[in-house]
Amino acid sequence: MNPFSYGGIVGNGAFCNRTKELADLAETMRSAGRCIVYAERRMGKTSLILRALGKLPKKQFVTVYVDLWPTDGSAAFSEATAKAISTAAESTSKRLLEIGKSLFGRLRPSVSLDNPGQPKIDFGIDGRAVSKTELVEVLAAPQELAEKTGKTVVMVFDEFQQILDYEDDLTERQIRSSIQHQKNVAYVFLGSRKHLLQSMFLDESRPLYRSAMHYPIGPIETKHWRSFISKRFQDADKQIDRQVIDLLCDQTGGHPFYTQHLCHVLWSMTDVGGEVDESVLQLAIEELLRRESHAYVNLWESLTKNEQRFLRGLAQSEESPKPFSSDFTRQFGLRSASNVQRAAESLESSDIIEREESSFVIVDRFLRLWIRQLFSS
Ligand SMILES: Nc1ncnc2c1ncn2[C@@H]1O[C@H](COP(=O)(O)OP(=O)(O)OP(=O)(O)O)[C@@H](O)[C@H]1O
Ligand SMILES: [Mg+2]
Repeated sequence: MNPFSYGGIVGNGAFCNRTKELADLAETMRSAGRCIVYAERRMGKTSLILRALGKLPKKQFVTVYVDLWPTDGSAAFSEATAKAISTAAESTSKRLLEIGKSLFGRLRPSVSLDNPGQPKIDFGIDGRAVSKTELVEVLAAPQELAEKTGKTVVMVFDEFQQILDYEDDLTERQIRSSIQHQKNVAYVFLGSRKHLLQSMFLDESRPLYRSAMHYPIGPIETKHWRSFISKRFQDADKQIDRQVIDLLCDQTGGHPFYTQHLCHVLWSMTDVGGEVDESVLQLAIEELLRRESHAYVNLWESLTKNEQRFLRGLAQSEESPKPFSSDFTRQFGLRSASNVQRAAESLESSDIIEREESSFVIVDRFLRLWIRQLFSS
């Protein structure tokens, strides 16, 4: 079994560091705070938050994880939230129905058995709109549950930016007014589209303005990857040098998904008893880029010349480049800062780049390597 996994949620035994983040999130949860956690796609938000929830003592906390990714409106939001709250509170059929009725009486709960015989709760809102009163009932439930159980309730909304695609801003407004006086409930909002989330929480005209502490999550530092990676090679009687790990982390920028993906390929290319050196790392990168090249060529060809020049500039700069500087525009043939502006806006809105302080990063770390390779000869 390859010890490096990429794509799914990673838990015990496959989880690298994040000690500080876990402690900070635990603090927010214990103090029933509000926090908005944002990070690029696949930076490890979901794995991190589930781990933080898992560490809370069950005697003192009820933890509710709501994935908003599949929701498309306030009805689906209400259904997903009501289901997650009921299921977090109770597990037997009888008690699930009782809690459903007591917290969400307006939503007509019913309980049935799913395929492996597990009780599951449903609400009579499938496909119809919810009224404001129903939404208010759903959003009041965490506090009621906290009072009923005498525990702190921790509500996590994953992919929170999804609510910007709802039919109107009823949910966004109601969240603000419902949660602002709740005392025994912590709220953690997670999301990956930084510019959208920031506009929700930093724009004065928006309902959620300044309603939560910001907590950005970045890559994992090389020093934490060293022992994580070398142990997994050693356990399979494969050797990897510290310098090679450092080089590998340079290439992926320590981004968890790309680091695990590259390690996965590297590990599978190494025989038992074998040793990874720089040339094997190079081969693994080439193999990865070859697999992705079809998609990258298509993407590249769909871009304007200025977008290509801009990406080339980002890919070829070692440190955070200053893309609006005259050096950058001259070096990469962009001619003016307004060309840079247009290219950046369009690449950001299609999630190819992400804003980072006064610069930008190419979200897909392998695309960055592919672009470097394209211009290396
Ligand atoms: N702490 C970690 N240690 C090791 N690998 C990690 C860690 N966190 C994330 N990863 C790697 O990154 C991948 C994505 O993690 P996860 O799904 O938690 O991220 P996410 O930010 O929620 O992603 P998405 O934007 O797709 O929702 C995992 O499959 C794993 O390979
Ligand atoms: Mg996630």
